[in-house]
Amino acid sequence: MDQIMGQNCMSLGMFLGIAFPVVVTVTLMYQNSSFGLFGGFSVGKIRGGKTQNATSESGSNVTTHGFEMGGTAQNITHDSLGGKEGNNNTDQKSRYFFDELGRVKELQGRSQNDTTTEGRTENTAVDGDLKKISTNESAQHAVNHDDKLLDGLLAFGFDEASCKSRMQSHLYRKASPNKPSPYLISKLRDYEEIHRRCGPNSRTYNKSMKKIEHSKNNTSAATTCKYLIFTPANGLGNQIISLAATFLYAVLTDRVLLVKFGNDKHGLFCEPFLNSTWILPEKSPFWNEKHIETYQFLLEKDRASNSTENLPSVLFMNLQHSRNDPEKLFHCGHSQDLLQKIPLLILQSDQYFVPSMFMNPFFSMEVTKMFPEKDVTFHHLGRYLFHPSNEAWEFIISYYDTHLAKADERIGLQIRVFSPESTPTQAIMNLVLSCTLKHKILPEVSLQISVSSARKNQTKKAVLVASLSPEYGDNLRTMYLNKTTVSGEVIQVYQPSQEGHQKFNDNKHNMKAWMDMYLLSLSDVLVTTSLSTFGYVAQGLGNLKPWLLYRILSNESHFPACERDFSSEPCYHVPPSHYCSGMAMPVKEFHSTFPYFRECKDFYFGVKMVKDSM
Ligand SMILES: *[C@@H]1O[C@H](CO)[C@@H](O)[C@H](O)[C@H]1NC(C)=O
Ligand SMILES: *[C@@H]1O[C@H](CO)[C@@H](O)[C@H](O)[C@H]1NC(C)=O
Ligand SMILES: *[C@@H]1O[C@H](CO)[C@@H](O)[C@H](O)[C@H]1NC(C)=O
Ligand SMILES: *[C@@H]1O[C@H](CO)[C@@H](O)[C@H](O)[C@H]1NC(C)=O
Ligand SMILES: *[C@@H]1O[C@H](CO)[C@@H](O)[C@H](O)[C@H]1NC(C)=O
Ligand SMILES: *[C@@H]1O[C@H](CO)[C@@H](O)[C@H](O)[C@H]1NC(C)=O
Ligand SMILES: *[C@@H]1O[C@H](CO)[C@@H](O)[C@H](O)[C@H]1NC(C)=O
Ligand SMILES: *[C@@H]1O[C@H](CO)[C@@H](O)[C@H](O)[C@H]1NC(C)=O
Ligand SMILES: *[C@@H]1O[C@H](CO)[C@@H](O)[C@H](O)[C@H]1NC(C)=O
Ligand SMILES: *[C@@H]1O[C@H](CO)[C@@H](O)[C@H](O)[C@H]1NC(C)=O
Ligand SMILES: *[C@@H]1O[C@H](CO)[C@@H](O)[C@H](O)[C@H]1NC(C)=O
Ligand SMILES: *[C@@H]1O[C@H](CO)[C@@H](O)[C@H](O)[C@H]1NC(C)=O
Repeated sequence: MDQIMGQNCMSLGMFLGIAFPVVVTVTLMYQNSSFGLFGGFSVGKIRGGKTQNATSESGSNVTTHGFEMGGTAQNITHDSLGGKEGNNNTDQKSRYFFDELGRVKELQGRSQNDTTTEGRTENTAVDGDLKKISTNESAQHAVNHDDKLLDGLLAFGFDEASCKSRMQSHLYRKASPNKPSPYLISKLRDYEEIHRRCGPNSRTYNKSMKKIEHSKNNTSAATTCKYLIFTPANGLGNQIISLAATFLYAVLTDRVLLVKFGNDKHGLFCEPFLNSTWILPEKSPFWNEKHIETYQFLLEKDRASNSTENLPSVLFMNLQHSRNDPEKLFHCGHSQDLLQKIPLLILQSDQYFVPSMFMNPFFSMEVTKMFPEKDVTFHHLGRYLFHPSNEAWEFIISYYDTHLAKADERIGLQIRVFSPESTPTQAIMNLVLSCTLKHKILPEVSLQISVSSARKNQTKKAVLVASLSPEYGDNLRTMYLNKTTVSGEVIQVYQPSQEGHQKFNDNKHNMKAWMDMYLLSLSDVLVTTSLSTFGYVAQGLGNLKPWLLYRILSNESHFPACERDFSSEPCYHVPPSHYCSGMAMPVKEFHSTFPYFRECKDFYFGVKMVKDSM
């Protein structure tokens, strides 16, 4: 009974990717590793919970050398309560490079003057290499198609130098078989026009904001432009998937999307909208506005009086669901009817709430027209919005060209350990090997010791390991080092970063996480960890159906180590639990009511969208 208890109390953020709980009780639960029941639900499908020695069906005894259990404890910091943004890392732009094992390093003590490579004395060889490679743009990996604009998804007219990744991503990623619909493209162009007209630096922005400010609580002001301010919460993976959802909401409601990015996200992304910015201007009073009416309060008021008068001009919506929260009814037409009259919404979320918009009668036709292939919604939104900054891009393509480009196949391996203090590294390693060997993602090591003979098949596979802990990359590398494999394939293992533990509000940490996610998204085959939003971002950008590593459950050894996911969409972990009438909607009914949803493979209570044909 203590094995699955408490999900109902969690913000769910705790499960997720590079994400963390926002509620103190949650933290405690987490530390106790006690997981609880959602009242009355079957628990059979939850993969997660306490860790245990993994015994796997195959390959479980692959010996990896040099295991060291000491020092593997990844620390969990809970210093980002409430998703507050901003630390004081101003202008600490670090320059990244990597060593011969493919580990990311930073130059220390770099002064603000060093915007070029001058004055870099450390590791000049590596740096020199990096420079040479990154300036050579005729690399062999260039794919046949050269549709820089990703089939019309991206707008024409950007200054290419200010954001190289936008126009170069097609050189690194295979052409997507899923084209954006003409309707989506026209909606995006319309949105860009609205953003230009109403966004920061426009006169209309000044006028509308002034009006909103002066009528905060009063009857909602009639403004020319309406706004949606996104407030991030939790780790970077959660922030990216929820920002994609928020952008879609902005497009559907003709609102201008503005983001409250603190310094921790400084320099990660390019501006996505032509000739404008999506950053909430520094001077905006809504960076720290208190006393704003909440969505929940509005719903209560509405229920009590049935009146839609007295709507405020500014409303704060917390869509960071947990199963215990009152139903937000965001997926209901009536809620949207109220919300559309409010000129400024401030939305905080860590969820990929896109499915709510497909459920909503207000939006369902529109959004279906935009995304006739529902299972690639994030793929389009993500590629549209998230372009690595030049600094991040320089690193990404250098790393790719040096380590990954020459391989015949690239394997992304994302290993996220949610409760490292109770999960032995060996157990995770066994799980990873059991999965990858069984499904022939990686070959078994041959018993022959001979090093250079018997390499009849020179197929090269490069494995990119993304993990907070260095052990996984190290072990895998050691396992294949100077050994032949039964298939004859040559395996090379790289792990760009090893941060030790998740950090919040930390610009360098986020930068590394973002580069890892992006590199993973360039894989041919992807293995991710169940429930990790970090993995969701990579699979979505890359349009990859990942192999989902199971979380190890107490006293279970019969479960498969991993399972292939059915789409690249992120999982919406906490979908609505009520019909708009207020009646409870059991999970089972959910799927019959909305046939284009399926339960997530990695989280029974979550849903994601499938192709219509399925
Ligand atoms: C895990 O493995 C260790 C060492 O093999 C063993 O001592 C321990 O009892 C195992 N734990 C469980 C729960 O099986
Ligand atoms: C795995 O190791 C255990 C203990 O070291 C041993 O008893 C078992 O036979 C091994 N299994 C395989 C498949 O090699
Ligand atoms: C984890 O963080 C806590 C609080 O900052 C600290 O006391 C502890 O030593 C850290 N543990 C590890 C393994 O770093
Ligand atoms: C961070 O900045 C804030 C305001 O910008 C300031 O109040 C605070 O003291 C700073 N903290 C540190 C550790 O420098
Ligand atoms: C930065 O560059 C300026 C001009 O080149 C120079 O005078 C100054 O000393 C440099 N500062 C540092 C910290 O290197
Ligand atoms: C760039 O790469 C191509 C293909 O790998 C190579 O032929 C060419 O010589 C390189 N150019 C430079 C300037 O390094
Ligand atoms: C908007 O207002 C700011 C000051 O609040 C001012 O600096 C800026 O020039 C104004 N922009 C326009 C386009 O009027
Ligand atoms: C964007 O700005 C550039 C430079 O100011 C200008 O030439 C271009 O026409 C603008 N594009 C649009 C679509 O407004
Ligand atoms: C506006 O509404 C909020 C929440 O209802 C309330 O706390 C605040 O005092 C109100 N402000 C004004 C100026 O009435
Ligand atoms: C609430 O509004 C609905 C529709 O506008 C109406 O049918 C209903 O009678 C109202 N209820 C109350 C208590 O006013
Ligand atoms: C080498 O191995 C790969 C993967 O197992 C296989 O697809 C390929 O056909 C093999 N090539 C040769 C020449 O055996
Ligand atoms: C692997 O081979 C390389 C060169 O062939 C050699 O330098 C290195 O020492 C070997 N490493 C191990 C662990 O045997």
